[in-house]
Amino acid sequence: MIIAVDGPTASGKGTIAKALAKHFGLPHLDTGLLYRAVGWQVAANGGDPDDPGDALAAADFPDGLLDNPELRSETTGGLASRVSVHPAVRQALFERQRKFATQPGGAVLDGRDIGTVIAPEAEVKLYVTATTAARAERRYLEMQDSGRKVSLKDIVDQLERRDERDKGRKDAPLAIASDAFVLDTTELSKEDAIALAITVVVQATGTA
Ligand code: DC
Repeated sequence: MIIAVDGPTASGKGTIAKALAKHFGLPHLDTGLLYRAVGWQVAANGGDPDDPGDALAAADFPDGLLDNPELRSETTGGLASRVSVHPAVRQALFERQRKFATQPGGAVLDGRDIGTVIAPEAEVKLYVTATTAARAERRYLEMQDSGRKVSLKDIVDQLERRDERDKGRKDAPLAIASDAFVLDTTELSKEDAIALAITVVVQATGTA
């Protein structure tokens, strides 16, 4: 069983994907982390994230980089979004994601193009979303908790820039697969969003 979880930044897709993997006993891949590694590596190489050649060279990052906590920063998220527009970068990361998705027993993957490009045959496709205001507020509270000072307005600006780039790129843009279940988490607690996602999977597959 392949479960594809797509959606914009800070929608709750990562939390939902992790919870589904745990509940159904499946391995989970956060595909954003791969793009973040490319973004981080391009900066470490002194390259330009908007240059297709520099971005592709960075796709050859060492595996150990995936454990680097700096990949989680908003700066790296922005770099990831910029390198992810290059078709050659997407192609370089395709096989790794495809192999993970098609492993025996199934898998949960979260990202932007899982249900549309990486695993269009997925049995369950969730598109997790929330209003910009709700996503920005969550990100703001997360950042305050970890002691980082940023204004809510800056977060809204960053989210909007990232949404625009992720939805506007030519190759594999963030889009709702025609057969996806849209899960809007704006008014839901984390627990309720997870419970709803589990119900969707159970109904779609008959798995308990
Ligand atoms: O989910 P995230 O914030 O960690 O993703 C970072 C960036 O990586 C995102 O802005 C766009 C890119 N990305 C992508 O293009 N395709 C994916 N499947 C996952 C992420």
